[in-house]
Amino acid sequence: MPHALITGANRGLGLEHTRQLLERGWRITAAVRNPAGATELKALDAGDGRLRIETYDAADLTAAAALKQRVAGPVDILFANAGMMHRDGFGTGASEGFITSMRVNAAAPLALAEAFADQVAASQMKVIALQSSRMGSIADNDSGGMYAYRASKAALNAIGKSLSHDLKAKGVVVLILHPGWVRTRMGGPGGNLTVTEAVEAQLDLIARANPAMNGRFFHANGQDLPW
Ligand SMILES: NC(=O)c1ccc[n+]([C@@H]2O[C@H](COP(=O)([O-])OP(=O)(O)OC[C@H]3O[C@@H](n4cnc5c(N)ncnc54)[C@H](OP(=O)(O)O)[C@@H]3O)[C@@H](O)[C@H]2O)c1
Repeated sequence: MPHALITGANRGLGLEHTRQLLERGWRITAAVRNPAGATELKALDAGDGRLRIETYDAADLTAAAALKQRVAGPVDILFANAGMMHRDGFGTGASEGFITSMRVNAAAPLALAEAFADQVAASQMKVIALQSSRMGSIADNDSGGMYAYRASKAALNAIGKSLSHDLKAKGVVVLILHPGWVRTRMGGPGGNLTVTEAVEAQLDLIARANPAMNGRFFHANGQDLPW
């Protein structure tokens, strides 16, 4: 039975990825900051042992190694999905929120990849999926602001590219993903996709993962995005 480890699985895109993969027969390790409050996630548990909920705080850079101690066996998809949007602008950019965003959005996915690379390499699919954002594209930045979010997702993109080289020999495929503008707590009500639509598209893309896709930055619709 294929196994995915998904961070930020208690709401938004992570919750929907968990729901759709469970529906497809997968086993899921759902890594969340506050398991006690993860009501919607717990409601997905059919009691057949396919959903395991683990505590994971991306702001703690020792959390990935600690999680590895509790997760045995191959991981087909390591999905670094958890992320935060610190809303800043010119004049408020250099702040603690900037540093925390770098930890959560960039360093934490790297720590996860470092902790789980061998378990991903031991799986059938061998995919590391990084939930980035088009807002991390420097070429696509035509409106400014959002220093912490843009810089941390640009850093995540750079990390994903390095991982694609460093893990290539293990057969791992690193996908750097933009889900589209999705109606979640982060995306807000103006987004043009539902979580269901975005996750269906992302899972279709991941199902096609192959070495030619390694280290590329993809919109959920399959288009390559500019760096
Ligand atoms: N929605 C969009 O339009 C959009 C577009 C581009 C990229 N993305 C990316 O997609 C990912 C998921 O976002 P979403 O739209 O689903 O937003 P969301 O509903 O706000 O979900 C964010 C998730 O990240 C988790 N998280 C935040 N900080 C964390 C931490 N320190 N440790 C562990 N988990 C943490 C949250 O957990 P808590 O409940 O504990 O806070 C929550 O599960 C993010 O990486 C985001 O940048 C979203």
